Amino acid sequence: MKQIFIIEHLEPELGKWCLIEYKHISKIVRKSNLWFTNIKNNKDKKKLNKLGKVFSESVSRLNLKNSCILDPESSKTLNPKESGKFNYFIFGGILGDYPPRKRTKHELTSKINFKTAKRNIGKEQMSTDNAIYTVKQIVKGKGLKKMKFQDTISIKINKILTIDLPYRYNLIKNKPLISRELVKHIKKTEK
Ligand SMILES: C[S@@+](CC[C@H](N)C(=O)[O-])C[C@H]1O[C@@H](n2cnc3c(N)ncnc32)[C@H](O)[C@@H]1O
Repeated sequence: MKQIFIIEHLEPELGKWCLIEYKHISKIVRKSNLWFTNIKNNKDKKKLNKLGKVFSESVSRLNLKNSCILDPESSKTLNPKESGKFNYFIFGGILGDYPPRKRTKHELTSKINFKTAKRNIGKEQMSTDNAIYTVKQIVKGKGLKKMKFQDTISIKINKILTIDLPYRYNLIKNKPLISRELVKHIKKTEK
């Protein structure tokens, strides 16, 4: 069964950081399995068309069957057994904020008026690309307990300055999952 990963874009603009993360997501799940919703601006549509299918409408208007919203505030955790029954996984296109302001709940979950499941993937906040990677692993049959994570990663900008990203990252071969392009971007802008 084909499963679609949906990102409801909820940032006021499609900034460089966000676009780099979306590119990374398109690589993780492939263009044919990725939808972007709530894309109002034509310039943004053009950019995102290269990465997935683009909708101007919010996902709340699509009336999807068998969907699951990934919301850190949900009380239930997604497990491999049930994950196969969902056709759509819906994520907030929201940059991390610390402490979290429950934006997924307020700006996404509470706006959906079709029947949908709501699940968390642990208590810690992940970046959208890591959340998508995690769900992809769960769908493949790997439970959260079998995955390795690192909470907070540090990016060395120069000899003096290090930036901490206080989110949960998947560890792949003991390395946190973050795109090289994003690390480059952070190093350039935080100098
Ligand atoms: C960087 S998170 C934004 C979280 C936001 N600060 C909040 O408090 O809702 C981006 C998206 O990844 C998904 N996500 C991240 N961590 C999650 C978790 N622990 N459980 C469920 N979904 C998560 C959600 O879909 C969320 O909207």
